[in-house]
Amino acid sequence: MALFESSPKNIFITLCIVGLFGIITFILSAATLGTLNRRFYSISSTVTSSKPKFNSVLAETIRIDDLMNHLKQFQRIADESNGNRAINTRGFNETVNYIYNYLQNQVNGLKIKRETFLIRNFALAKDPILLSLINGTVKNFTYSSNLARSEFTYVNYSTSTNFTDYVRVINIPNLGCTADDWKNVSGLVALVKGGGTCTYAEKGILAANSGIRALLFYNHGEKFYSLAPIITRLRYNNQLPALFLSYTAGQALADAALVGATVKLQIELQNLGTYPVDNICADTINGDPKQTIVVGSHSDGVQVGPGINDNGSGTAANLVLATNLARLYQTTTYIKYKYRIRFCWWAAEEIGLAGSSYHVQNARNATVVGERLQDYLLNLNFDMAGSPNFIFGIYDAKTAINGTPSSALPGSTKITELYRDCDYGPFLTAGIAAGGVATGSDAIKTAAQREKYQQSVGKNNAGFAGAALDPCYHQPCDTLKNIHLFGYENLVQAAAYGLEFLGQHENLLTWLYPDGRL
Ligand SMILES: *[C@@H]1O[C@H](CO)[C@@H](O)[C@H](O)[C@H]1NC(C)=O
Ligand SMILES: *[C@@H]1O[C@H](CO)[C@@H](O)[C@H](O)[C@H]1NC(C)=O
Ligand SMILES: *[C@@H]1O[C@H](CO)[C@@H](O)[C@H](O)[C@H]1NC(C)=O
Ligand SMILES: *[C@@H]1O[C@H](CO)[C@@H](O)[C@H](O)[C@H]1NC(C)=O
Ligand SMILES: *[C@@H]1O[C@H](CO)[C@@H](O)[C@H](O)[C@H]1NC(C)=O
Ligand SMILES: *[C@@H]1O[C@H](CO)[C@@H](O)[C@H](O)[C@H]1NC(C)=O
Ligand SMILES: *[C@@H]1O[C@H](CO)[C@@H](O)[C@H](O)[C@H]1NC(C)=O
Ligand SMILES: *[C@@H]1O[C@H](CO)[C@@H](O)[C@H](O)[C@H]1NC(C)=O
Repeated sequence: MALFESSPKNIFITLCIVGLFGIITFILSAATLGTLNRRFYSISSTVTSSKPKFNSVLAETIRIDDLMNHLKQFQRIADESNGNRAINTRGFNETVNYIYNYLQNQVNGLKIKRETFLIRNFALAKDPILLSLINGTVKNFTYSSNLARSEFTYVNYSTSTNFTDYVRVINIPNLGCTADDWKNVSGLVALVKGGGTCTYAEKGILAANSGIRALLFYNHGEKFYSLAPIITRLRYNNQLPALFLSYTAGQALADAALVGATVKLQIELQNLGTYPVDNICADTINGDPKQTIVVGSHSDGVQVGPGINDNGSGTAANLVLATNLARLYQTTTYIKYKYRIRFCWWAAEEIGLAGSSYHVQNARNATVVGERLQDYLLNLNFDMAGSPNFIFGIYDAKTAINGTPSSALPGSTKITELYRDCDYGPFLTAGIAAGGVATGSDAIKTAAQREKYQQSVGKNNAGFAGAALDPCYHQPCDTLKNIHLFGYENLVQAAAYGLEFLGQHENLLTWLYPDGRL
């Protein structure tokens, strides 16, 4: 998941091995594929059985060994590529080639396509400068690449800027996670405290429409480890200058902002051109192209680690789903779905959903039947499926992002219910109050959740309370050892169950969009 440099608990790493499980499903609509929402919520149903049973042929084909074989390949690729699989690295290219070649050579009945797009590349040309003017006194903030000594740092995907005048600073209320926090701030520099239920990238998206001149984030200081400035990023297509201050520097500026503090910023970036990245999509040759179900996951990792759980586990899950469905289609007994299934591996998701956004943008423009936005019925997204301290999270239609067309909501609710009410019910009993995109991966499993899991999946599989769901989230330790085998296999089986249920549905269009599509 791209998220979440931003969560306050981000740096809380425990040695206990425990983790996260997520199924993210949502209706594809103009607003949704490009802005994958990853909100998990708590399901309070009673825990009954101790083992999932499924009436799903596709789910029965899912084997942990197949999943792990792909993950071993991703681990090998990371090992051979400076330890990561981030975009613009050999590790990413090799990952994409592996997916493409595997689909091409190992399975029949899928139509595979690469979709290449360009990402801008740049570096800081020189140290950024931040000056404040408070009561006639200029302060020159200390910049250092050593964050412990720095009063501020650069935010990745900030734009260049060179203020000619000092500009008033405004404190953004409530951590800046809702549009209301960004009213009436036009022409000012926004000072935004870290934390809350949103990522820095999301604060940046809200800021984009507010008319502010620049963004100054600062650490929230609630823990000993949340004092220094944080290396984080905005979305790859951000258009605002942005810096990140330490808690002490930020809090002093916040106090001064109340009595008219002003600031001047200078950020100079060097343009390093663009580089190409590839999405891969594989379509079943059967099924109506005008009624396509997209099953997505992303192919890139972050820079700091091999990215095996995030999102190697989702990538491998999608590969196994695609392969196993294609193989079932080769048999005479398995009835082919009336819908086309399009499995996609999105590139550059870690920098702000670039791959899926590009795909949707293309679909908006497309005129070819099967490629238009209207040809998509539904999007299922699988991400970080193997966290060692798994919980079962389900995308919750109730927390759909602002701007999701109302026509997409009933279907999203039904898919939420589909996973909750299936034989996996007990397994999907999350009891996690994550409530935000940033919390799925480094949120802490509570004693109550552990208790529930112990009842449903047995003591040895219930993980540990008080530990991060994925303590290796975006860390070098996100390796093969960071996968919970039991949780991973079950989640992918649940995913297969869901896909088969939807694939075999008589009339998905009416089921998902009872009030019609926009
Ligand atoms: C995995 O991919 C999704 C998008 O598909 C992304 O939002 C998410 O942040 C990724 N997971 C992590 C832990 O970065
Ligand atoms: C990755 O592949 C692209 C072509 O798709 C190529 O232009 C680029 O140089 C490769 N990058 C690395 C780091 O190998
Ligand atoms: C920003 O992030 C991208 C993608 O992770 C990375 O390639 C690049 O080096 C970063 N740029 C800076 C200036 O830190
Ligand atoms: C602020 O400090 C930077 C780095 O030391 C220096 O280059 C710059 O000239 C200083 N600006 C002012 C106005 O003092
Ligand atoms: C920024 O503007 C100042 C004048 O306000 C000028 O001296 C300086 O060279 C400019 N810096 C850049 C990087 O353009
Ligand atoms: C917006 O701010 C200006 C001055 O900063 C103030 O005069 C105006 O009343 C504010 N408007 C609203 C709607 O708060
Ligand atoms: C600015 O000066 C006024 C009085 O001149 C003083 O009351 C106030 O505390 C000062 N503010 C700061 C932030 O130093
Ligand atoms: C789609 O069309 C718009 C407007 O014609 C254009 O700006 C954009 O680049 C196109 N997007 C893609 C992905 O081709």
